[in-house]
Parts: sequence; structure tokens; C-alpha cells
Amino acid sequence: MNIFESRMNELYALIEHHAGLYYDKDSPEISDAEYDSLVRELNELERNYPQYARKDFLTHKVGGSVNELFAKVNHDVPMLSLDNVFDSDELAKFFGRIDSTGPFVCEMKIDGLAVSLIYENGIFVQGSTRGNGHVGEDVTENLMLVDSVPKKLINAPSGKIEVRGEVLMTLERFNAINQNSTKQFANPRNAAAGTLRQSAKNNHVIAERGLDVFLYYLVNAQAQGVNTQNDALVWMHEHGLPVQSAYRVCESLDDVNEFISQWQNERYKLGYITDGVVIKLNDLTRWADIGSTSHAPRWAVAYKYPPEEARTRLLDIKISVGRTGVLTPVAILEPVRLGGTQVQRAGLHNADEIERKDIRVGDMVRVRKAAEIIPEIVDVDVDSRTGNEVKFMMPSRCPACDSEIVRLPNEAAYRCPNRASCPAQLVEGLKYFASRAGMNIKGIGKKLCEKLIASGKVKRLSDIYELEISDWIELEKIADKTAENILAELELSKSRPFVNLITALGIPDVGSGAASLLTEHFGNLDAMMKADESDISSIDGIGPVIAKSVHEFFRNDENMKLMKKFSDMGFMMSIENPSREVRKLEGKIFVFTGALSSMTREKASALVKSFGGKTASSVSSKTSYVVAGENSGSKFTKAEKLGIKIISEQEFLDMIDSESII
Ligand code: IVH
Repeated sequence: MNIFESRMNELYALIEHHAGLYYDKDSPEISDAEYDSLVRELNELERNYPQYARKDFLTHKVGGSVNELFAKVNHDVPMLSLDNVFDSDELAKFFGRIDSTGPFVCEMKIDGLAVSLIYENGIFVQGSTRGNGHVGEDVTENLMLVDSVPKKLINAPSGKIEVRGEVLMTLERFNAINQNSTKQFANPRNAAAGTLRQSAKNNHVIAERGLDVFLYYLVNAQAQGVNTQNDALVWMHEHGLPVQSAYRVCESLDDVNEFISQWQNERYKLGYITDGVVIKLNDLTRWADIGSTSHAPRWAVAYKYPPEEARTRLLDIKISVGRTGVLTPVAILEPVRLGGTQVQRAGLHNADEIERKDIRVGDMVRVRKAAEIIPEIVDVDVDSRTGNEVKFMMPSRCPACDSEIVRLPNEAAYRCPNRASCPAQLVEGLKYFASRAGMNIKGIGKKLCEKLIASGKVKRLSDIYELEISDWIELEKIADKTAENILAELELSKSRPFVNLITALGIPDVGSGAASLLTEHFGNLDAMMKADESDISSIDGIGPVIAKSVHEFFRNDENMKLMKKFSDMGFMMSIENPSREVRKLEGKIFVFTGALSSMTREKASALVKSFGGKTASSVSSKTSYVVAGENSGSKFTKAEKLGIKIISEQEFLDMIDSESII
């Protein structure tokens, strides 16, 4: 066997291994860029040495397989992948091959999970994953739990409509989940894929974690009288299907290149991960003639951005302790410029990753910023080692409270078990308690939480309500007026809805979604506390993990004392608000758009709920009122179109009687 044949065999094995981890297990060990470069090396070798090529290898098919967990769905029109190009020459060659001069539509390439959605007479009836391109997995029930998948289209088109797009997790959701849960995902794509491909008994996590979708392909567009990709995007938008706003019609390849460079840095502001630009021939009436290979269309191509990389020294590995006690190693780097910003920290995910990459303190490392906000260490420059590098060991005691660290057999994470008094957990817990989803106490940020805990004056959450004005002045070195404001904010927070309190407690795995299911079901604290595990898990949307966690929380004496305190202080302990006799907004659904001037949207929603009404994030025929603040956008237009009553912020306040607003 010559070296080429043996390298090719090696690449076949490597790619097979990594593709399995990526597509089937949703847990890759190498980055997408590294995977792409293996595939490129193989493609090159296959071109030069076709005699050693394996024609039926997976790189010649669409990736992914079909999981037994789900029923199978046949894709009438195969769900194809895209060919990749990595620079403008390759791009020009690609379109040269089909002798096309444009116009083209450039869209951001979303790094998510491809899905197909089918609507019958405007009603969502089936959703599936790509699978092997011909047969996918039926994930209809799970997609029902994704808010941004419309269950009903606007101006319902008759007959069958199929659209395709990408399910994703926003960076905000991804970071929140990784910070506060025992479950650690490598990146948002894996988090999205892992979340969507849930068994029926576990699908409560879908609503809890929060997924999003963008559509980019209207199947059989011409049947709807749509002849260009641009019109297809507009058509989908007008029927209520979310499409990205980052796209443009480009007249020439020069325009395309300009779009590519413009978005190279701007894409970091999108809030979700994109790894390239998809360039499609705008005139879709020509797509069928141009045709496809077995795995990708010839009328579209993906331009992949190069990852941003730099070399620097790893100065230290610090341990951060999260709200639920999970220990996460963080790399402290010699500052280096990367992707437009100065970088001095990198994520290390967990101890296994440090071990696998053999990362030692003192090493020269290659850091890469993919679209993720936190950069990661790709590998170590082993050759430049001096012998003074120090291997990392996960501490056996908590760096914040010295408790012995535990690692549960079925958990990858290391944890500090001292929930009651570990200062690091208290800081995080207090910060979460005061956050918007919790008691929404303005003026209490991370710095102040650290001071409060360090002072020893706050040992449990309720203590912040018992501090004197002099305590605040002393702690914060602030003026009387500011201290008074904090006290007023604290007082105000006591009347937040019951669901905010349950969220604010920071019960592991209970976010605002689960908290709202719990409060709606039990109605008050007493019923919630008395419930046994099976009562809790019988709630639609609450699974065994949350049930166990909630049950355990209310079996703990310290927690019970805390709840008693809150109750004595006059917090809302039920969903009914006794001070408001009327549930005057019962049955009404409100949608807020634009900026409100007298309160935040969270507060406005809380108000609606406390008067028995509901809020929704998008306008539909069920919406009762759209409250339009300043600079309201598409929701306003949509409401006008549907003939929904649009009211001003003042009219909204009048409606609920501003006198009684807290
Ligand atoms: S168009 C017939 N547009 O990238 C192919 N795909 O690597 C239609 N993707 O399979 C695909 N963003 O899952 C298209 N704006 C976009 C996309 C996009 C992400 C995914 C899609 C595709 C994969 C190929």
C-alpha cells in the first residue's frame, strides 16, 4: 500500500468516526472546521487517486442517520446538503460551472439542525429531520413545543405546503443552560439537536430550553406563483414563517463577495451561530434544469468562513462555581486579539476535555473563536513545551467553601454539594433571584451580590429584605437617595407574581417555563409543597427530573424556613392576587411591540397576568390587543392586516387602571 492509499484509509476511518459523533450522538470531539478540513483533504486525494476511492462512502451521501426513537418520514423531495467553498476563487468556479451570472440571493448559513415542516390548509401537520436525506425522523410532537414554529399560517394557503429550514438555539439560551444546568453542551448546534431529538417522555425540556427556527426553502415554490428565492422568503414571511433578516439579493459575484465580507464580523451580532453564507441562484424556475448531484444542488453553494485563530499562552486554569454548584474550568490567557476583540479567557467545558486535549498550564495554545462568543482552545503546541508546564487536576475541594467535591455516577459534572452556604453558589443564586426572570430587582447586579455575600450579612435569599438603609450605604458607599431607591425596589419586588418567586428560588432545572407550569397547576405554595413526586410529574410538560428536584427542594428544612419568611414578608404565595378583586383581563391575549416608556416588557406581561390575562410573543388571529410602544415593527403591520385592535401604552395603562399598579 502506498502512502496515498494509506492516508486515504486513515481519513475514511477518521471521518466515519467523527461523523458518527456529530450526526448520531450530537457530541462532536473536533470542531466543524477541523472536520471540513479532513473532508477536503480526502476529496483532493480522491480526485488524484480515484483508484483508491470508496464511491459509496458517506461524504458522497447526505450525512446523518435515522434514530429508532422516531417514526420514519419519507421526503418526497430529498433533503439535500450543500457543497462548500472556502474562498472567492472556488466560489467563482462553482458558478462558472453552471454558467450563471446571477442575480443571487445571499443568506447566512445557520449552524443548526435541518427540518422540514408540512402544513395542510395552513395547519402544521408534520415536522421531520433530514435523516439520510430520503428518510427522516418524525419530530412533529417535539416541533409543536417550539414557539417559533407557527402552528397555523397567516392567510392559510389551501392544500399542502412544505417548507424547510433550520432549528437552532440562540446564544442567550445556550449560555443560560450551560451555566445553570448539570447538562453541558459543546455548542449551540448540539444543544439544539440534542434538545429536539427527545423521546416523548422527556419532551418537556424542549419548551423549557427554548428553541427557534428559521425557514429558507419553500418546496415547489412555483405552485404558489413564486418564481424567485427572494419572493419565496417574502412569501414565507408573509405567511408567518420566521425567516432570517440577514439576506440580500446580489446582482453579481462581486456583490456576493461584498456581502460575504460585510457579514464576516457582523454575524457575531446576530445572537445565533452562523458559519458561512449560502449563495443561491435567485431565479428558481431554472433550478430543476440545473439539477443536483446525489447530495447537493448545483444552483446553490455554501461559502464557509475561516475560523479566527491566534496563538497565546495559557496562564492559569481557574474554577468557577455555578448557581447549582457545577464546577467549570476556565482558561486564563495572555491577552490576544481575536475576531475583533481582546480575548483573555477561553471556555474549557469540563475536565474530560482538558484531559483529552492534554492542556497544561504554561502551554502555548491555539485559540479559536468560531461564532461562539467564548473562544475555545483548539490544541496545544507540544513542541514548544519546556517541561515546566503543569498538568491540571480538578480540585477535590470547592475553591469557594472548601466542601468536598462530588461527582455523581451518571453526571459528567463535578459539583460542590454545599447548596446552603457555599458563597459562590450564594452569589450566583442571589444574582439569579434578583434577575429579570426572578424578582426583577433593579440595581442588584453581580458586583453587589458579591459584596452582600462577602459581608456575611446575607446568608440566605430573604436576608436582603432585612438589611437596614445604613447597611446599604455602608456596603455600596452610596448616597442616601440611591439606598432609598434600592429599598423601594425591594419593596416593589415583593408584589411580583407567584411565578416569579418560584422561578427566583433557583430550584435546579426549574426555569421560568417550568415555574409557570407548576404555579398554574398548583395555584398556591401550600399545594405545591404538599405534592408528591408523582403529582408533580403528572403535569403536562414536567418530567421526572424536574419533579424530583421540586419535591426535594420542599423537603429541605432550610428551604421551608425560607418560604415561611417570604410568606411572612407578604410575598405572593398564590396565583390569585387578593388585592385585585377583578380578573378584568381574563380571556384576553396581549402582544407588546416596540419600546414601552413607563415599564419593561416583563413588567407589562406580569401586570397582564396578574389581572388574569395572557401575553403572546407574536400576533395571530387570537390576539385581543397589540400594545404598540415606540418604534414598533412588523407586529404592528401584522396586527393591522389581521384587523386586531392596536392600543397605545397609555390606553393599556388606563385599561388596567394605573392607580392600582404596583
Ligand atoms: S439552503 C437544497 N439555506 O446547511 C439545499 N441551507 O451544509 C437547501 N443551512 O442542508 C439548503 N442555513 O441544513 C440553505 N440559509 C440556508 C441555510 C442552510 C443553513 C444548512 C442546511 C443545509 C446545510 C448544508
